[in-house]
Amino acid sequence: MPLRNELRAGTRELHDDLERRLPVSRDAVDLDVYRDHLAFLFGFHAPLERRLAKLPNLTHQLPDLERRFKADALRADLGRIELPEAGNGDLPDCRSCARALGVLYVLEGAGRGAKILLGRLRRDGVLPGPVGSSYLEGYGADAGAMWQTLCDALDDLPEAQRDAARHAAEDTFSALIRWWESWTRR
Ligand code: HEM
Repeated sequence: MPLRNELRAGTRELHDDLERRLPVSRDAVDLDVYRDHLAFLFGFHAPLERRLAKLPNLTHQLPDLERRFKADALRADLGRIELPEAGNGDLPDCRSCARALGVLYVLEGAGRGAKILLGRLRRDGVLPGPVGSSYLEGYGADAGAMWQTLCDALDDLPEAQRDAARHAAEDTFSALIRWWESWTRR
């Protein structure tokens, strides 16, 4: 079975747990809820992407790694500079390439939900134009190819490293849930 399918099945419960907590999952989302969601995501992506960027060999498996980083798009969408950051202890371990690929599976898979949210924000006139939606728009026409490259990198992992990717995907969802809980208590 492709590793991506295993990761999807293995993290489905955690995904649904996270989705239930997030106000953007509701059918009607206003601008305040949307802004808050971007800030929540920024607080997770910015420190985690800095760690992923430090892995010397990850670009051998994913030559387009830098294009996958989303903190700049989130910052631009928010249009503000002072943003929260998760404490370092709240981030999933991504010290090996196999773990990093498991982390990226979760961060990139979020594009599915982003597409749904963008559709609702456009439908309700909350975000009528392209301004403020670069994160949600993701890779546009390249979305399928970008996802396939990541799935191929996951599938190229040797059997002995697959557990690391599985655990890292679960840890990433758990860390997002913890970050959401501390973010809402701020
Ligand atoms: C930070 C928040 C989120 C993260 C990290 C996340 C991550 C993911 C991941 C990793 C997948 C599986 C990708 C795959 O293997 O195909 C996925 C699928 C999906 N997500 Fe999310 N997601 C998030 C929020 C949401 C929200 C808010 C919604 C609803 C508006 C949503 C709706 C979906 C749907 C419908 C799927 C497809 C499920 C399926 O394959 O059956 N997600 N998401």
